[in-house]
Amino acid sequence: MALLDSAIVAYNYFVSLSLTQQVSIIVFAPFIYNIVWQFLYSLRRDRAPLVFHWIPWFGSAIPFGMAPYKFFEDSRQKYGDVFAFMLLGRTMTVYLGPKGHEFVFNSKLNETNAEDAYKHLTTPVFGKGVIYDCPNHRLMEQKKFAKYALTRDAFKTYVPKIREEIISYFKNPEGFNMGEKNSGVANIMKTQPELTIFTASRSLLGDDMRKRFDASFAQLFSDLDKGFTPLNFVFTNLPLPNYRKRDNAQQKISATYKSLIEKRRATGDVDPNRDLIDSLMTYSTYKDGVKMTDQEIANLLIGILMGGQHTSAATSAWFLLHLGARPDLQDELFEEVSNILKEKGTSNLNDLSYEDLQNMTLTNNVIKETLRLHMPLHSIFRKVSKSLLVPNTNYTVPAGHYVLVSPGYTQTSDRFFPNASTFDPHRWDSNNLADKNADEGTVDYGFGAVSKGVSSPYLPFGGGRHRCIGEQFAYVQLGTILSAFVYNVKWSLKGEKVPANDFTSMVVLPEEPAEIIWEKRKTCTF
Ligand code: HEM
Ligand SMILES: *[C@@H]1O[C@H](CO)[C@@H](O)[C@H](O)[C@H]1NC(C)=O
Ligand SMILES: *[C@@H]1O[C@H](CO)[C@@H](O)[C@H](O)[C@H]1NC(C)=O
Ligand SMILES: *[C@@H]1O[C@H](CO)[C@@H](O)[C@H](O)[C@H]1NC(C)=O
Ligand SMILES: *[C@@H]1O[C@H](CO)[C@@H](O)[C@H](O)[C@H]1NC(C)=O
Repeated sequence: MALLDSAIVAYNYFVSLSLTQQVSIIVFAPFIYNIVWQFLYSLRRDRAPLVFHWIPWFGSAIPFGMAPYKFFEDSRQKYGDVFAFMLLGRTMTVYLGPKGHEFVFNSKLNETNAEDAYKHLTTPVFGKGVIYDCPNHRLMEQKKFAKYALTRDAFKTYVPKIREEIISYFKNPEGFNMGEKNSGVANIMKTQPELTIFTASRSLLGDDMRKRFDASFAQLFSDLDKGFTPLNFVFTNLPLPNYRKRDNAQQKISATYKSLIEKRRATGDVDPNRDLIDSLMTYSTYKDGVKMTDQEIANLLIGILMGGQHTSAATSAWFLLHLGARPDLQDELFEEVSNILKEKGTSNLNDLSYEDLQNMTLTNNVIKETLRLHMPLHSIFRKVSKSLLVPNTNYTVPAGHYVLVSPGYTQTSDRFFPNASTFDPHRWDSNNLADKNADEGTVDYGFGAVSKGVSSPYLPFGGGRHRCIGEQFAYVQLGTILSAFVYNVKWSLKGEKVPANDFTSMVVLPEEPAEIIWEKRKTCTF
């Protein structure tokens, strides 16, 4: 009764106030509640320290969204490696550094899951029944199915196709127009996404699908892309044109894939070693006998292509920028390509094979160093489904909260990489941090062996059951792109320095304008 009495007293007090006072209370109450709540929360010994925020619900969205690594570092100095913050109504527990990599990437399936963290964003874009719109054991098998198209034998056939696409884009007036010009300026935020989609669809989806990239199909991809933004993370569905266009694009693109699948099946034109469509047509029956439907195969194709699109496009944009500031490295890379060709008794870039790419140490280390400095995904999330203890602490993370891991933070921290902010591919010449986990053996979650330990400071492709399956493909695609650039052109930055990170998109992109000035080398034959 005491509670009711106090409520009545409080109410009577409230109605006795002037209108201005009443409005002030209504406006400020959430803020005051928020501050009192945070104070009480900070007294709990069983909870990770919460980064203080003024605005309820919104929380630390601005500092995290604009400059996550700085936000993490500032928070670490106050609270240590483990802390939590509020992000748009979600409580995120962060564990920085290698121990945090282990905590999140190797967390148990019955404690955290990726589906509940990502599906609001991904299901409308990829479609139903695949990736995060199915139980985890299905995803593990889908990754296994996709890997049939990501073998060494497949890569050998992809390299010439990828290079053909690059050269034709170099020549094309819609691309670099090198057929007409000896030098020019390129906006790499336009060229690299295009080069990525053309090379990936030519190799993974085949000639037919590549040819579809006339104006209408390209527009659909652009519509789908615009539905894959941080805003879509927060609001799955809004009655806005870009949401309608996203849904329409998903339907049309998957219908196109589906009709190609049907056509190939009808004509018996299936060769499991040709491309990803054929691999999935051949290998898409789950262990329990359930077969993926054609619609699901089509949706999986969208998901896989999307997984490689922004990540690879951003990576090639970044290496072009860093190398634009380092003509010495361009020359060194040029020597690397020339020497390999010379040993083969040729000077024709078309003779550069998949095997040759494996021997191009500097080329691969440029990609590796680019991914260190600009890991495309700055934060990786899981939703907690059963309260779990944070190792080495007395904190528990309750069900309903999220955990966040950021290898990109570790990779750019001076504590783990000397002179971390310097782009220096030669730092990888001797010490090989990526192999650090090799000692701990491997584990198979259903899509092939991955390293069991995930406490390397360098994990641009993640780790554990959600680890990327596209790493080798990305290296093939990016290595072919990089060697084609260095063999045909020299370039420099149009701006004064390498642009800063823009963290506000789905992947970490260079701030615009991001342009290079290119000029043909003598070895350019067109
Ligand atoms: C530079 C290029 C790439 C980078 C840096 C990258 C990075 C990543 C990372 C960090 C994850 C783990 C996400 C998580 O744990 O939540 C991941 C997963 C994945 N990536 Fe990649 N990726 C790249 C290219 C590709 C390509 C080319 C493909 C497809 C051919 C691809 C397909 C996938 C798939 C299917 C997953 C699994 C998602 C899951 O199991 O939840 N990625 N990637
Ligand atoms: C969660 O899974 C792990 C193994 O993956 C197991 O050891 C543990 O007992 C499980 N916990 C619960 C509560 O089911
Ligand atoms: C390239 O690698 C192969 C093995 O993968 C090796 O036999 C060959 O000698 C290497 N060539 C160069 C130039 O390093
Ligand atoms: C956890 O709590 C116990 C008991 O209060 C204490 O002895 C221990 O030092 C704490 N551990 C950490 C990492 O704070
Ligand atoms: C870091 O950079 C400084 C100055 O550029 C240089 O003197 C030093 O040798 C570098 N250290 C390492 C470990 O690369």
